[in-house]
Amino acid sequence: MISLRKKELRFSESIRKIMSVLEKISPAEAIALEKKYGAHNYHPLPVVLSRGEGVFVWDLDGKKYYDFLSAYSAVNQGHCHPKIVGAMVEQAQTLTLTSRAFHNDKLGVYEQYVTKYFGYDKVLPMNTGAEAVETAIKICRKWAYEKKGIPENQAQIIVCDGNFHGRTTTIISFSNDENARKFFGPYTGGFINIPYNDIDALEAALSSSSNVAGFLVEPIQGEAGVYVPSDGYLAKAKALCEKHNALFIADEVQTGIARTGKLLAVHHEDIHADILVLGKALSGGAYPVSAVLSDDTVMSVLKPGQHGSTFGGNPVAATVAIAALEVVQEENLAENAERLGVIFREKLADYIKTSNIATLVRGKGLLNAVVINDTEESDTAWNICLKLAENGLLAKPTHGNIIRFAPPLVMNEEQLLDCVSIIISTLKEFER
Ligand SMILES: Cc1ncc(COP(=O)(O)O)c(C=O)c1O
Repeated sequence: MISLRKKELRFSESIRKIMSVLEKISPAEAIALEKKYGAHNYHPLPVVLSRGEGVFVWDLDGKKYYDFLSAYSAVNQGHCHPKIVGAMVEQAQTLTLTSRAFHNDKLGVYEQYVTKYFGYDKVLPMNTGAEAVETAIKICRKWAYEKKGIPENQAQIIVCDGNFHGRTTTIISFSNDENARKFFGPYTGGFINIPYNDIDALEAALSSSSNVAGFLVEPIQGEAGVYVPSDGYLAKAKALCEKHNALFIADEVQTGIARTGKLLAVHHEDIHADILVLGKALSGGAYPVSAVLSDDTVMSVLKPGQHGSTFGGNPVAATVAIAALEVVQEENLAENAERLGVIFREKLADYIKTSNIATLVRGKGLLNAVVINDTEESDTAWNICLKLAENGLLAKPTHGNIIRFAPPLVMNEEQLLDCVSIIISTLKEFER
């Protein structure tokens, strides 16, 4: 008993020491620790953030920034939204995890809420975006064998060049980003790559084989550089999938939950995807929550033991997701994104007419990108982002010469105009 007490004291003493180091850590020390002890699988801007609220984040020196990345569109509801954090804390003090070996009192309530919210019969809860995409692929394949009658192991899923659906072995198998792919083989087969936004290529791929199970697509390619397909592309793609009895799978991990000015980006073309994949903002960035939604005919192919996740659908995740989705409705985030997105693109397009450093602004709602007048290999966009940070706004290049601008959707017009003026004056510093 005594030795246990001693152990406890020693343990709390070490925690106290760690905490005091953490409290005093300098930006240089924080970066050095990451460099020394963390895998080097990211290339962050040299900014060390320690606090966030709404559209703002603060670094260790107390400098305040507009966040124009929103954790890759996870923080749509703004940093540390009190309603979401409040729900999370309360649930975390009550029950955090039961696993799916037992029922819990929150999961069913969330499942009813989220399915009604998005208009589907069923949901399968997971944690990260990549896991949800993997889940969608598995469901699509099983549906193909059991419902469409494709011979076992022959199912093919059509995907687009330039896609980004996550980082698992299967997902990178059909990526054409060499950096994401090279030396991670052998790769998973069963995917047909076609150009994005090319309806003829989709029709040809669907017609080329009776073994096509589905078409997996981002309604806007976010990571590739915010590529918005032509008007009508998604609706035509959905109609072609119906004609060929293939499932239309919308990966809305980045575009979903009000980011593009509608609840879902596919709503711009009045589409109901056969399988909907969500993540990121499903929790407002407070907790890893992802989901796959579909109707009974598709979801019913999964039986106990065929898929799952220890954390998927845990009581905290369920509670947080309900709060996060309520905030989207209560604060009219889709409407706000739509309205502010128009202003953002108008102002930037106006500046670009006479700029020799920016060539194009594109996007929908508050998912936008500015193309920088330099090669993909150049470091100009990176240097612009460093300067933006210095000027109080955080953004990051997606691919070499493209900068994505995606602030939390709780931004107001005055803040947006302030940001536009920071962005334009920073770009002007780079004019030649
Ligand atoms: C469209 C899309 N799908 C999937 C993912 C993967 O999500 P996660 O990083 O949570 O695995 C991302 C992440 O950026 C994404 O943008």
